[in-house]
Amino acid sequence: MTATAQDGAPRARKVVLAYSGGVDTSVCIPYLRQEWGVEEVITFAADLGQGDELEPIRLKALAAGASQSLVGDLIEPFITEFAFPAIRANALYEGRYPLSTALARPLIARRLVEVAREVGADAVAHGCTGKGNDQVRFDVAIGALAPELKVLAPAREWGMSREETIAYGERCGIPAPVSKKSPYSIDLNLLGRSIEAGELEDPAVAPPEEVYAMTRSIEAAPAEPQLVEIAFEGGNPVAIDGERLDPVALIRRANDLAGLHGFGRIDMIENRVVGIKSREIYETPGLLLLIRAHQELESLTLAADVQRLKRQLETTWAELVYQGLWFGPLKEAIDAFLDRTQSTVNGSVRVRLHRGNATVVGRSSASDSLYVDSMATYGSDDRFDHRAAEGFIYVWGLPTRLWSARHR
Ligand code: ARG
Repeated sequence: MTATAQDGAPRARKVVLAYSGGVDTSVCIPYLRQEWGVEEVITFAADLGQGDELEPIRLKALAAGASQSLVGDLIEPFITEFAFPAIRANALYEGRYPLSTALARPLIARRLVEVAREVGADAVAHGCTGKGNDQVRFDVAIGALAPELKVLAPAREWGMSREETIAYGERCGIPAPVSKKSPYSIDLNLLGRSIEAGELEDPAVAPPEEVYAMTRSIEAAPAEPQLVEIAFEGGNPVAIDGERLDPVALIRRANDLAGLHGFGRIDMIENRVVGIKSREIYETPGLLLLIRAHQELESLTLAADVQRLKRQLETTWAELVYQGLWFGPLKEAIDAFLDRTQSTVNGSVRVRLHRGNATVVGRSSASDSLYVDSMATYGSDDRFDHRAAEGFIYVWGLPTRLWSARHR
């Protein structure tokens, strides 16, 4: 219906489209060309460790009419530049969701902008609808990185239902999804999976076991607990059970261990940026395990006041990332604070994985522990000056006593 811009002029000449291989982004290709007068659509598919085969996806875009189909491996920057900062920030949106999807969007946006500049495109496009968070994240990030580029979001304007989209695709030679067996909308990458739609839209209905793929059910988890030891340097996880692993391998190992023991499932009602509440199922085993261990190490190595302020800023950091403000000034300023706190986060944490639980059972830091035996002990080598507490309490309680004397 909405054919082109008001005067009938093409919306853009050459467009780089974020491509997943799904029906919606596939339909964007002929739609941009036929309805919006775009001359050339170049697709870009990101490998974020989701485990899809990229060659069929690359060919699918060409079959749908893309003039060039590019794929790019973004797994390493995804982990080192996005996941690790989130671990250092103990980032949990609304106290629960470790941002597995949200963290990928600014990275994809950054790469889209680079590709657009390399190929001389005047716009970038994505297949997000108008009621999700991902459109916000893409649009804001692209606007921040490349104000000269237009952002096109056909699915926000075309007003087609799922069936109409499939039919439009079939007329353009895009095959309908092989089976309609999965009623769910799934986003996945190396950090985890998000599952929405189908019967999950009723918040009172329990998620069926079939929605999970990275985590075992508690029933299927091993009966025996497993102890894992996670080592950190400068706030980054560097080794599991004494074996040093590169960042990507470490995340994979953490996923396998936590997933095996059924740890890392989340079922929550979440507040979206666009104002609606939605029911979300996540499984993010490794990321949740690493955040839990990292929090624990900080409790041993951060000064009390730093730890308290950090906790407040962590909440804000998670909100900023969720809300698409990765490249904003507040996120950058908080990053400076967070980075400054991490130089002493060195040591290791022992976690017991068992039947859906990850329980911290030990923590140590040879170089940075602020836990002092002679202060903490109740034994005979106690060095704490008990009598000094009296003067401290005299001053500490003075305002309360003065207030009480006046008002009670
Ligand atoms: N609600 C989650 C988030 O905002 C997951 C979004 C999943 N995205 C998707 N296109 N299926 O991060």
